[in-house]
Amino acid sequence: DVVSWELEEIEKGSFAHFMQKEIFEQPESILRAMQGRIEFENATAHLGGLNLDRQELLNIERVKIVASGTSYHAGMVGAYLLEQLARIPCTAELSSELRYRNPIVERNTLYFVVSQSGETADTLYAMRELQRKGAKVLGICNVVGATIPRESDGGVYTHSGPEIAVASTKAFTSQLTVLYLFSLFMARMRHMSFEEGLALVQAMDGVPALLQQVLSRADSIQELAEKYSYARSFLFLGRGINYPVALEGALKLKEVSYIHAEGYSAAEIKHGPIALVNEETPSLFLVPNDPLRDKVLSNMKEIKARKGPVIAIAVEGDREVAGIADDVFFVPNASPIVYPFLLMVPMQLLSYYMALILGHNVDQPRNLAKSVTVE
Ligand code: G6P
Repeated sequence: DVVSWELEEIEKGSFAHFMQKEIFEQPESILRAMQGRIEFENATAHLGGLNLDRQELLNIERVKIVASGTSYHAGMVGAYLLEQLARIPCTAELSSELRYRNPIVERNTLYFVVSQSGETADTLYAMRELQRKGAKVLGICNVVGATIPRESDGGVYTHSGPEIAVASTKAFTSQLTVLYLFSLFMARMRHMSFEEGLALVQAMDGVPALLQQVLSRADSIQELAEKYSYARSFLFLGRGINYPVALEGALKLKEVSYIHAEGYSAAEIKHGPIALVNEETPSLFLVPNDPLRDKVLSNMKEIKARKGPVIAIAVEGDREVAGIADDVFFVPNASPIVYPFLLMVPMQLLSYYMALILGHNVDQPRNLAKSVTVE
């Protein structure tokens, strides 16, 4: 009883691959995830399927997000958002781990499971285990009518449209969008002012156009992919809310190009990963103009001092970054909170082009499945 997608949505059109189409579609898919859900006049969001009354929402003291793969990385970003914006303690956990941990369901804790397919076995069983122990579990899913949205206690659809390529791209940014909206909604019920809410709403509203600008410069990412396609190992480094974004960048590269990649907090490299650095191991740094930028710059210098090639994804006009890194891809200036979107897309493109250059099947990478319905 899974709703079938419109035929035209599952055709590649003018694109060579589904992954390419899905990367380039993100300005629209993000818009779909926001459509009808933003209330400008109240500077908040409206999510119809939460199935929680006002009092239940006010009683929430903690949020836990449970997911696997790319959805887990979206959940990690969500944890930063909920804490930063709504000041609600929040953690993300892998479904496979939570399920076998005999999880303790605490009072006034809201659970989210995040799953593009809505069928991932680990996530589904984790949800059932939590529900058995009395938890209220909401889903953030894409496939309408899949098992998780059917069995969850409510939730939000991401409306990404069909994601055909095995490596998840547009589903990730739609999951992020929903998590931003939920965080905004919770924040506005608590301490966030109208002005702050409006600034966030406007920042969100601007994301599709900014991504369009990023995508219009895909050619320069392709050049980077050519330059670095020699690498057998890569580091992806970010901090704060962009730390999970770096993890997702590394996952994308592994999935489609089969190049070994590790994502780390830029602050952690000194605790081990820096031992991997040599002339042939590039490090890709995420450098938004946020309060952690200076720290990231000194991490970059540490890599350069050890002769590691450095690629930065930084913000237009950041001359200092250009002076340190070997190559910089610039994204437009934006409100710091929305950089996860702007920094993610260039890394998706990089993985896509790397895979093509190396002659791999980008849409169906070896050993991977779109929906993992076994443990
Ligand atoms: C598989 C897919 C990944 C996906 C993960 C979780 O491993 O290949 O792209 O992130 O499952 O899938 P879900 O459908 O639960 O988001």
